[in-house]
Amino acid sequence: MPSSPRPDLAIASLLALLTHLLLLPHTPATAVEVCRAVTCPGSAFADQFLPPPQVQFPFRLRRQSSRCGYPGFELSCTPGGDALLRLPGSGEFIVKSITYSPTQSITLADPDGCLPGRLLGNFSLVGSAFRALVPQQFTLLNCSDGVDLSSLGMQAIPVPCLSGGNYTVMSLLTRFYGGDPYPCEAMATVTVPLPLQYWVDVEEVISLTWDVPDCGSCRRRGGECGYESANGTEVGCSNVPRAGLSRTAKYGVILGLGVPGLLGLIGLASFVFGKIKARGTPARPNVTDVSSLIASQSATISMGLDRVTIESYPKTQLGESRRLPKPNDTTCPICLGEYQPKETLRTIPECNHYFHVDCIDEWLRLNGTCPLCRNSPEDPS
Ligand SMILES: *[C@@H]1O[C@H](CO)[C@@H](O)[C@H](O)[C@H]1NC(C)=O
Ligand SMILES: *[C@@H]1O[C@H](CO)[C@@H](O)[C@H](O)[C@H]1NC(C)=O
Ligand SMILES: *[C@@H]1O[C@H](CO)[C@@H](O)[C@H](O)[C@H]1NC(C)=O
Ligand SMILES: *[C@@H]1O[C@H](CO)[C@@H](O)[C@H](O)[C@H]1NC(C)=O
Repeated sequence: MPSSPRPDLAIASLLALLTHLLLLPHTPATAVEVCRAVTCPGSAFADQFLPPPQVQFPFRLRRQSSRCGYPGFELSCTPGGDALLRLPGSGEFIVKSITYSPTQSITLADPDGCLPGRLLGNFSLVGSAFRALVPQQFTLLNCSDGVDLSSLGMQAIPVPCLSGGNYTVMSLLTRFYGGDPYPCEAMATVTVPLPLQYWVDVEEVISLTWDVPDCGSCRRRGGECGYESANGTEVGCSNVPRAGLSRTAKYGVILGLGVPGLLGLIGLASFVFGKIKARGTPARPNVTDVSSLIASQSATISMGLDRVTIESYPKTQLGESRRLPKPNDTTCPICLGEYQPKETLRTIPECNHYFHVDCIDEWLRLNGTCPLCRNSPEDPS
């Protein structure tokens, strides 16, 4: 008989693969002290894109044990439900988000909504555990009434919280300011720690990172970061899945292989059934080998990225002024909708293209590559 499909073998190997992936053993927990991730209740600063930040090592809430966090990373909750960080040289800031992996970073906002005012004041990172992620120089201009602000071009944006009845304070990147004949008076130059590779309104958030303790590589491997021992200061990593898949990846496998596998089985059953019915009639045109069919199917499915990977790509929220990450990039290449104020965009690392977060997330779930340049973020060439 010519090479007839062996559905039983294909199914058996599919099931074996699933079992193998799901039952992979984990390394036993070590002595590393791990505290539960907590949050402040959340407030006006939180929205659907920015849920209240998860507080976990090296951060801790003051009400938790001091062993839950690293010195300098203590947060408190405001009566309104925001997490608050106190920088030794600069006072208190609302914590809008914390990213633990792959980059360790924190975004901060002014409780009174006037970040430029804070940066003009006593802002300093000296003595804190943090440094600027991407420091950028902004020049603040004081423009009296009557100046045609539109003549300043799109790079200069108003700072309402510093403006008065008969003047408007504008901010623009200092490198765009050089020598231009602006009809305004330069007030000050401030250093703004901007979020990673973004272009964010100076009045919105600042973004800081920290080098010690370094939990990034531990978390990238799916481990838990914390103190090595009950009273030491050494930070370690525990519960790293042994060369296996993270729990989320396993769910991905169940959905990615299991569901199509099931559909495959149904298809197979009807195929075999049809074959039996058709026995004795002339063979149909060569049907591809079923195992290679399943193999190619799972190859197509694994092209998409899992949610954790997608979530790790940087997001940016547009400000009221809708200042864009790239000035000429005004529409989302996927849905062709124009970016609106307060919308959240996501960028794919390495290729620096921007999209609506909803559009690109859906796309990346199905395709692992940037829709514009086809670069795979997993494998930047
Ligand atoms: C810096 O200014 C903020 C308010 O703008 C204030 O709360 C804080 O105490 C000041 N810090 C120092 C060290 O002066
Ligand atoms: C801006 O300039 C006006 C005078 O033209 C002055 O009254 C005002 O205080 C200045 N604003 C700031 C924030 O320096
Ligand atoms: C702006 O208004 C203040 C009083 O509110 C006044 O002292 C100042 O001269 C005005 N500045 C200009 C440029 O008109
Ligand atoms: C930490 O605790 C262990 C036992 O619990 C003790 O033997 C050790 O001396 C302690 N180390 C310090 C630095 O306190």
